[in-house]
Amino acid sequence: MDGRALAARVRAEVAEDVRELGEIVLATVLVGDDPASARYIGLKHKAAEEAGIRPLDHRLPANTPEEEIVGLVAELSAQGDVDGVLPQLPLPPHVDETTVIGAVDPVKDVDGFHPVNAGQLYLGRPTLVPATPLGIMALLEEYDVPIAGVEAVVVGRSDIVGKPVAHLLLQANATVTVCHSRTRDLSAHTLRADVLVAAAGSAGLVRADIVKPGAAVIDVGQNETDAGLVGDVEAEAAQRAGAITPVPGGVGPMTIAMLLRNTVRAARYRRGQLAFPLGRGLT
Ligand code: GUN
Repeated sequence: MDGRALAARVRAEVAEDVRELGEIVLATVLVGDDPASARYIGLKHKAAEEAGIRPLDHRLPANTPEEEIVGLVAELSAQGDVDGVLPQLPLPPHVDETTVIGAVDPVKDVDGFHPVNAGQLYLGRPTLVPATPLGIMALLEEYDVPIAGVEAVVVGRSDIVGKPVAHLLLQANATVTVCHSRTRDLSAHTLRADVLVAAAGSAGLVRADIVKPGAAVIDVGQNETDAGLVGDVEAEAAQRAGAITPVPGGVGPMTIAMLLRNTVRAARYRRGQLAFPLGRGLT
């Protein structure tokens, strides 16, 4: 499953939406100098610019007090010309991520991490949904992978990928199992999976022999190893799977494309073209 090709199409659609909507602004907040985070922010800004979205780049030193970060996020949330607000994660250890995410106006929460948007997803009334799970569902749809009634297994229970993708699969009527580090017998679950999402952040955790033959396998892993960037799924699994996403070139490009799509959605909320179920100003 080619994430680059589908992402390019999504980004072209976003660019068309932006031409129709006029100026759209995506504000990002990067705290500290984690190289991976800086790289992701760079990719997000480049993709935004290519789609005609104006990125606003805020960078703070690693030792910035939590109140100051929350203050900036709240200020951007209140700013009349800002459509999306994205604090890049992870934040430094002295900062409570939940507090910072809570300062994002839910209507501008292009990451979909705010409790209001997470709650809407949980209730089956999705508003702004995290980008990686959206990208996964778009890939499954693009490659005509059936979801309703199938066994879907998610390995990993993060707030960013595992939990939200489990909810999206459930909403699409899959029978969903979420496995994690304390799961007793991982292979007993994965061998039953028609759709397998590997999002544990552990290189090669999903060995080829624990993949059900013919399964659709989504590899969310982005693990830097001596051998380069590898996923959570062993390379040999490609021989057993019916369809599989490569790393790189699978889920990664989709995440950025769906972030841009979320930014357009946030812009529509702010312009009153779409109704946000709970109104504004919740923070
Ligand atoms: N860190 C890892 N993934 C993400 C993401 O999707 N959004 C943000 N803001 N930070 C992240």
